[in-house]
Amino acid sequence: MIKQKVQDEVNAQIQAEFQSGWLYLAFAAWFESKNLDGFGHWMRMQWQEEQEHGMKFYDHLLRRGGEVELKGIEKPEISAENAVDIFEKVLEHERHITKRIHSLYDLAKEKDDYPLQTLLHWFIDEQVEEEENAEAILERLKLIGEEGASLYVLDRELSQRDAE
Ligand SMILES: [Fe+2]
Ligand SMILES: [Fe+2]
Repeated sequence: MIKQKVQDEVNAQIQAEFQSGWLYLAFAAWFESKNLDGFGHWMRMQWQEEQEHGMKFYDHLLRRGGEVELKGIEKPEISAENAVDIFEKVLEHERHITKRIHSLYDLAKEKDDYPLQTLLHWFIDEQVEEEENAEAILERLKLIGEEGASLYVLDRELSQRDAE
């Protein structure tokens, strides 16, 4: 049986994953409203991935006889001038999620929750990838600037992203 404190924090993480998804969907709308549909596609894939992350924690709780408590999702606040701003926000957000995953891991160790530690190994790796991907796109955006033709090339490239 899962300990109460651990269950509470896993429920908070389910909220954080769906909140992340909502943020990505808002970013998708931002790009799509500017006809940058490749960026929009990339953001939609992130949106889907975050829901899958949330469901991994959801399933984990249920499989262990725990109780899922869904919390509210807040309206994402987006104020961005350009694509660089958006990817800076993406990176900042993923770093915030990485910290949350690491704190959850600390708690799982403190409470001797071995199954949760195992699940979190996947998330620890995933966060390395999330930060790496966001950083790579941000660096390229900084290189090319907001110049139309280069941005369009990157947009085309991002439109090719497949489901992972
Ligand atoms: Fe996530
Ligand atoms: Fe993420």
